[in-house]
Amino acid sequence: MIQSYAPGRAELLGNHTDYNDGLVLAIAVDRGVTLTGTVRSDDALFIAAPEMGDAYEGSLAALAPEGEKTWANYLLGVVAQFQKRGLAVGGVDLRIESDLPPGAGLSSSAALETSTAFFLAHAFGHDALTLLERAKIGQAAEHQYVGVKCGLLDQIASIFSKAGQTTVIDCRSFEVRNAPLAPGVSFVIANSGVKHALVAGEYNERREACEEAARTLGLKALRDIDPETLEKRAGELSPSALKRARHVVGEIDRVARGTAFLEAGDMAAFGRLMFASHESSIVNFENSCPELDALVAAAKRVEGCHGARLSGGGFGGATINLVAAGREEALIQALEAAVPGTKCLVTKAADGARIL
Ligand code: GLA
Repeated sequence: MIQSYAPGRAELLGNHTDYNDGLVLAIAVDRGVTLTGTVRSDDALFIAAPEMGDAYEGSLAALAPEGEKTWANYLLGVVAQFQKRGLAVGGVDLRIESDLPPGAGLSSSAALETSTAFFLAHAFGHDALTLLERAKIGQAAEHQYVGVKCGLLDQIASIFSKAGQTTVIDCRSFEVRNAPLAPGVSFVIANSGVKHALVAGEYNERREACEEAARTLGLKALRDIDPETLEKRAGELSPSALKRARHVVGEIDRVARGTAFLEAGDMAAFGRLMFASHESSIVNFENSCPELDALVAAAKRVEGCHGARLSGGGFGGATINLVAAGREEALIQALEAAVPGTKCLVTKAADGARIL
């Protein structure tokens, strides 16, 4: 029997920067997706999802995106990517278990993809597959079997993160490093319960707008311009393209500054960048919503809360709050009162994916 585990992630700074060749700062949360299973002697794929009361049955020979049981596509898409890369796989009996709330901005989808990549690599003798390649397999699965043109943040954070540290990703060179977290802080994830609409096209639309802005400016990607130069060249972009670009370029700058604050142990300064990031989501990227704005506004009023912002794609989902240890309960009360139906969880920065 083989068991693989991959955590969800929370994005701390660097919103929508990953597919712009930018910088992102994230943690893995202390919840994730566990796959338990065995290798079969034929090419059948049996996937049980008992928490959903559902199961999928198929075969490698007839591998294709699933129209009804769409949850299976995160897994099937990874199988297809192994095949595409000439990494032989066989049939499996698998069971999915997860303590990650889906649709909460913690990327339960990437956790499922990553856990699948670890399971298959281990089960079929591809342990040498690099960690970056595993992340890229998850991303390609999402592009081709789910239809979301995501960057690599979710998969890299789920794989490379280290307990008690943050993960800083350069999405051009794919250099990944860990920056410290000062002791005495924890994270509260506040799930607004508002469903995000990644698959519904808002995400892909934002990605196209960013790529279009880069093209208009004659740049390879928005990574290639700094905030001051962007303002000097503002007249070259439409008002909407300028706002999208301001968000991404500002976020990349905030990751660079935020990493320095982490290294200096200045959590208050880091937290101020989180609030600034959320403000930019409201004003520039327009990927927030009234519930997330109310959660961030409430967090700002709680003593000991250093920073708060939306985490992930946006359009609903969750906020991430950086809070002094011991102040979690006060913060949670304020958040749950601000937006009824909000569910909070406290997490530490946790280790990335592994075979159990
Ligand atoms: C989603 C995507 C990521 C990233 C974030 C926004 O989580 O899957 O690739 O673009 O949104 O930063």
